[in-house]
Amino acid sequence: MFANTFLQAKKEQRRLSMVTCYDYSFARLLSQSPIDAILVGDSAAMVMHGHPSTLPASLEIMCLHTGAVSRGAADKPIVADMPFLSYRKGVTAALDTAQALLNAGAHAVKLEGVEGHEDVILRLTQSGIPVMGHVGLQPQSIHQYGGYKVQGRDEETASRIVRDANSLEELGAFAVVLECIPSALAARISKSLRIPTIGIGAGAGCDGQILVLQDLLGLNADFQPKFVRRFADGAGIVRNAIADYDKAVKNGSFPAQEESYS
Ligand code: KIV
Repeated sequence: MFANTFLQAKKEQRRLSMVTCYDYSFARLLSQSPIDAILVGDSAAMVMHGHPSTLPASLEIMCLHTGAVSRGAADKPIVADMPFLSYRKGVTAALDTAQALLNAGAHAVKLEGVEGHEDVILRLTQSGIPVMGHVGLQPQSIHQYGGYKVQGRDEETASRIVRDANSLEELGAFAVVLECIPSALAARISKSLRIPTIGIGAGAGCDGQILVLQDLLGLNADFQPKFVRRFADGAGIVRNAIADYDKAVKNGSFPAQEESYS
C-alpha cells in the first residue's frame, strides 16, 4: 500500500514531499499538513541529541522517536532509518531491527548504500517490509568521506551511484533518497528509474524532495548549507516569543486576570 502510493505518484508525475520528524508535537502539526510522508531520520542524533554525526542513533533512540512520531501522525506514512551498522551484521540482525522499528510505529525502513548488504535488502523486501534506499552522500559513512561532501562529481563515483540506484530498484526498494549529488546526475537517475527518487541537495530533477524539518523552519540559525531553503525564521520567532514571555513575567503583565483562576 505504502509503496504503491509512491509508485503511483511517479507514474502520475506528481512530486512527493517528505520531511523528517522526531517528536510528537511536530508530528501532530505534520499530520494536519499535506506532506506525503515522514522520515524519522537518524539525523535525530544530531538535531535532537546534539551529536556531530548520525552514528550514535541507536535502535533504542530510533524506536523512541518513531513511537512519538507515530502517536502524533498516525495517518501519515512513516519511514524510519535503520541505525548505523544494524543492517551490516547479517540478515537476522537486520530483520530484528526492522521488526523493532515497525513495532514502534514505522511503515517502512530506510538504509544507506547497497554493496555488501544486497541480501539484507532483498530479504526485507521479500518479507513485506517496504525499503527506501539512500545513495549519494551517505551520512553513516562520514568518517570514510572525511566530511559532508558532494558525491558523484567524478565519473567513477557517479557510475557507482547509478549502479546502486538501479540495484535498489531491482532488489525491490520502493523509493531512493539521493543526497548531495550534482543535479544533472540526479535527474538522469530519476528518469531511468521506475521507483521515485527523493532528493536532498540533488536538484529539481528528482521525483520528490526531503528536508530536515528544523532546517526548513529555520530553527537552526547556525546551519545553512546551499541546499536548505528556510521557509520560516523559526529561530527568530522562538527567540522573540521567549523574550516577550520573559519580559511579561518580569514586568508583572503575565499572568493577567483572565489567565488566572478565581
Ligand atoms: O536522517 C536523515 O535526516 C536523512 C535525510 C537527510 C534524508 O536521512
